[in-house]
Amino acid sequence: MGATVAAVEPLALRRTLAGFATGVVVVATHQPGMGNVGLTVNSFAAVSLEPPLVLWCLRKSSRLLGAFVRSGKFSVSALTEFQLEPCNHFASREPGKRGDGYFRPGAQDVPVVREANAGLVCRVKRHFEEGDHVVFIGEVLEAFSRAEPAGPLVFFGGRFHHALPMG
Ligand SMILES: Cc1cc2nc3c(=O)[nH]c(=O)nc-3n(C[C@H](O)[C@H](O)[C@H](O)COP(=O)(O)O)c2cc1C
Repeated sequence: MGATVAAVEPLALRRTLAGFATGVVVVATHQPGMGNVGLTVNSFAAVSLEPPLVLWCLRKSSRLLGAFVRSGKFSVSALTEFQLEPCNHFASREPGKRGDGYFRPGAQDVPVVREANAGLVCRVKRHFEEGDHVVFIGEVLEAFSRAEPAGPLVFFGGRFHHALPMG
């Protein structure tokens, strides 16, 4: 029999995870009938270079789950320190939020955020439920980055930060 691990309370885990600094991205898709939709995400991570794979996690109860599953494609846009406004827009739970003004069309017309530092357009390779989230694994179809990137938007301690280079 394995040792029992004491359950970590969700709030305590959330507080601890806040100590792991992340970048901030907007994940977006286009869904016929719903138009362009997106949300602010910090669960994004690289998975593999060959083949090119990335992942992100979506709350199972998100009203956007159907859109990502049905469209089978998504973009990931890395926000700059000047993009707190789209960050807050896409983090809001306001129903019917569209944010079309923030997007331009990427590969296969998947919407990507204008002026982002870097971006990817992906095909959903697989998605699966894990705990209270759905994990999306994406195969990268298009990758682009700004010739002169701005500072990144950083999420740490439940707040947004600028990042300064160390030398
Ligand atoms: C910094 C930050 C990171 C977030 N990361 C995620 C994430 O990885 N996955 C997720 O499902 N929601 C994440 N959210 C919440 C969504 O941006 C948004 O609030 C939520 O999707 C709105 O509810 P809805 O999807 O039902 O519209 C994050 C919010 C913030 C501010």
